Amino acid sequence: MTQSSALAIVLAAGKGTRMKSDLPKVLHRLAGAPMLAHVLRAATSAGIARASLVVGPGMDAVGEAGLALDPKAEVFVQPDQLGTADAVKAASPAFETAKGPVIVLYGDTPLLRAETLKAVLGELNAGADLVVIGFEAQDPTGYGRLLFDSHGRLSGIREEKDASAAERALTLCNSGIMAFRSAATLSGLLARIGNDNAKAEYYLTDAVALARGDDLQSRVVLSNAEEVLGVNSRAELATAEGLMQRRLRIAAMDNGATLVSPDTVFFSYDTGIGRDVTIEPNVVIGPGVTIEDGATIRAFCYIEQASIGPGASIGPFTRLRPGAALAKNAHVGNFVEIKNSQVHEGAKVNHLTYIGDASVGAKANIGAGTITCNYDGFAKHRTEIGAGAFIGSNSSLVAPVKIGDGAYIGSGSVITKDVPADALALSRAPQDERPGWAAKVRARRNRDKAK
Ligand code: UD1
Ligand code: CA
Repeated sequence: MTQSSALAIVLAAGKGTRMKSDLPKVLHRLAGAPMLAHVLRAATSAGIARASLVVGPGMDAVGEAGLALDPKAEVFVQPDQLGTADAVKAASPAFETAKGPVIVLYGDTPLLRAETLKAVLGELNAGADLVVIGFEAQDPTGYGRLLFDSHGRLSGIREEKDASAAERALTLCNSGIMAFRSAATLSGLLARIGNDNAKAEYYLTDAVALARGDDLQSRVVLSNAEEVLGVNSRAELATAEGLMQRRLRIAAMDNGATLVSPDTVFFSYDTGIGRDVTIEPNVVIGPGVTIEDGATIRAFCYIEQASIGPGASIGPFTRLRPGAALAKNAHVGNFVEIKNSQVHEGAKVNHLTYIGDASVGAKANIGAGTITCNYDGFAKHRTEIGAGAFIGSNSSLVAPVKIGDGAYIGSGSVITKDVPADALALSRAPQDERPGWAAKVRARRNRDKAK
């Protein structure tokens, strides 16, 4: 049994009514990715090669999202929500051909870690036929309770509604995640699960008692409650987000980044952060961001789909939008917005500037208030600024336009034509001076006022 032959069945057919949302529950986002993506990623990182997704009727968006995340995934529709065993059954075309273990996951349990799934696979490898991830619940209400025999072996799972008072007092609960040694083990058990219970549902959890009757071995892998937190409401989504952020912050610090105030920095699931990066308070990092070694992100920056090169520094108050790529030692300062542009090595864009659809050459200096006018109301156009160019403050560069290497743009210019290398370009009215004018006018006005 190799791990790569394992199949994950991700249950996501539940309606998620408590989210009060038009968006299916498992597509709600956590750290920049849908819950479903987190679950699929955990499975992939645990070496589980195949995934099947069980969705409800009319939940095409979930199937499509699943396929976008994993093109090899298979999507099955469970016509009626008759319980977790019925949901697994919907994926039977997939598991009947599975060569290795089958692991049932929930699409709304986004904090599950690959390490825990590896422990589950390890137990199967070591001879278990069925493995359940259990956790100690502070408040076990609503969960299935794990039952053990006098030898301490897992013997069954009792759902809340079917439990006796004594069983309800138990706090070791079923996370819902359950793994089977092989497709044959699963099919053999599934075929005998009925719905003679308080909810008249087909409970996957009944597989444990059936396995016991077959003299199969069931084991528990323990996880902490946080990891198997199921998201059913917006409040639980926020709780899960908080827990996920805490993990990402710790990972960033473990990898050698300094977070001055970790609780105020928000990462995405895929944020790449190098060593000796410093991130000041109140920074939001959306998906698709890499920050290389030695870079500094000062307070109040908002960054998405952007790359920040080694030793570069941004902020305070910088906004990097998709496609912003800052090279080594680039400096971007306050109230600067950069979109779909390359800022080459050592270039400076320090104050109050918009750079869009542009390239800024190495060591170029962009003065305060410079705007690349990239949009004419119909289409976007590029601005190319050469290496070592100096753009005077409050200039407008009307794209498409090229500023040659080493060229100099006088402050306040509106540049509409290409500027050759090393030239000076100015486009502003020449200064007009009237000596003594102010003194003369002031004297006259004061005289008038005194009358
Ligand atoms: C289930 C477990 C319970 C466990 C709890 C953990 C059973 C019978 N009970 O209970 O022991 O403590 O999870 O949260 O398995 N789903 C479908 N189709 C269905 C029913 C459910 O796809 O017909 C999916 C849901 O979308 C959800 C998951 O399965 O992701 C769990 O279903 P839910 O109804 O929430 O199960 P619980 O009653 O909470
Ligand atoms: Ca539930």
